[in-house]
Amino acid sequence: MKNTVLTLTEQKRTGEKITMLTAYDYTTAKIMDECGINTILVGDSLGMVMLGYDTTLPVTMDDMVHHTAAVSRGAKDAFVVADMPFMSYQVSVSEAVANAGRLVKEGGANAVKLEGGASVCEQIRAIVDASIPVVAHLGLTPQSVNAFGGFKVQGKNVDSAYRILEDAFKIQEAGAFMLVLEGIPAKLAKIITERLEIPTIGIGAGKDCDGQVLVYQDMLGMTTGHTAKFVKKFAEAGEVMRKGINDYINETRSGEFPAIEHTYAVDESVIEEVEAHAPAHDTEE
Ligand code: KIV
Repeated sequence: MKNTVLTLTEQKRTGEKITMLTAYDYTTAKIMDECGINTILVGDSLGMVMLGYDTTLPVTMDDMVHHTAAVSRGAKDAFVVADMPFMSYQVSVSEAVANAGRLVKEGGANAVKLEGGASVCEQIRAIVDASIPVVAHLGLTPQSVNAFGGFKVQGKNVDSAYRILEDAFKIQEAGAFMLVLEGIPAKLAKIITERLEIPTIGIGAGKDCDGQVLVYQDMLGMTTGHTAKFVKKFAEAGEVMRKGINDYINETRSGEFPAIEHTYAVDESVIEEVEAHAPAHDTEE
């Protein structure tokens, strides 16, 4: 069954947790869809995990459209949310609507996500008015890395916690149908989740959110180096990949691969004919 704004909203009412993972390509999206994931986020985290940037800031609209279209082709039942990249919605309301439109029209997204609270409510209203569902994103919003002075947990003092709570109400009032809460204390996320009508999706925001999201390379153990405290490794896919790639290198070098079962046969008479007429290999310089 196709997940929609209605089924996702209903999950908040019934208490059935909403599952969301990031994906950036057709094959991964198809596997997630077959597993029954509720929603796939084409996050601008693709700048870091797919394109190798240090932050999400360099990601372009063309990057997002390209990856969203691939994911949409693999997602039959999953609800596809596409991130609006840095500076695709901040400059003007009309640019925000046009760019959200591209993610739906060219990318096949079911909804768009943008970061921020009061400062982007006008954009949220206008995008919703264009019949495009909007997911908001508050807390440790990665596009504000420079303003925050790093990837730092938000909402740890009264002012900051209260601002996030106020923003949550504002984005709901502006028409967002779902809210991602990233990198905030679990108890603050619980209050926000209990007070809002729209579902919350947590990432580093504790278990009381209405759903959870993780970057798939993190939760499958494909990323190396520092990972955030909130990441749980559900598999060691990186190890499985490394083993497969090493085995391929070794077997190719030793001649064990390809074996007879990976090889196409041909009638011997064809080979005899070809060999008889093939020019000799010219070894002269
Ligand atoms: O870009 C992304 O992947 C995200 C999630 C971390 C919520 O915004």
